[in-house]
Amino acid sequence: MDKIESLLTLDEIHRRIIDVAGKLNEFYQGEELVLVMVMKGAIFLTVDLMRQLNMPCQLECIKASSYGRLGTRKGELKISGIEELDLLSKNVLLIDDIFDTGETLSQILYQLQEQQPKTLRSLVLLKKQLGQSSTFFPDHVLFEIGDQFVVGYGLDYKERYRELPGVYSLIEGDV
Ligand code: IMP
Ligand code: MG
Repeated sequence: MDKIESLLTLDEIHRRIIDVAGKLNEFYQGEELVLVMVMKGAIFLTVDLMRQLNMPCQLECIKASSYGRLGTRKGELKISGIEELDLLSKNVLLIDDIFDTGETLSQILYQLQEQQPKTLRSLVLLKKQLGQSSTFFPDHVLFEIGDQFVVGYGLDYKERYRELPGVYSLIEGDV
């Protein structure tokens, strides 16, 4: 059995989402926005955020995975679905679950930029504080956390725990 410990409650997450949605509503006022969700981890964040936005929104999803069955050890980064998007001259907000080394987000942003959107920004639920080696950071971070493996609210450990309402630290497991 894995051991997990509560880190962020659903209530805390929802309050931050309302904060950030307020900023986005101001920033994109009078504009349309394309939300590009990174499956599968960003699913709950995207749904909860989208319901707080008041500009016309389009929803698209792409897929990125680097852990899969390896659990907490990183494998090869696979990104798919970008070629089906049409982002020319659109306002694009990329939404991912967590920013660790930043490799996933930077590779996705690089590929999205090739479609020449009008604006391109990024938003993540969590940022690990040790991910400082990166040369760029997401435009919006809901919470900064320490260097630990987390699950819940869409985040998984070997495809489990996505359904947990809040975010939890995984204390035991083959971390
Ligand atoms: P990065 O490329 O190092 O920034 O890793 C980001 C990706 O790895 C995220 O999109 C997650 O899917 C996954 N990931 C990183 N840390 C965790 C974690 O603590 N729990 C679950 N998934 C994680
Ligand atoms: Mg992910």
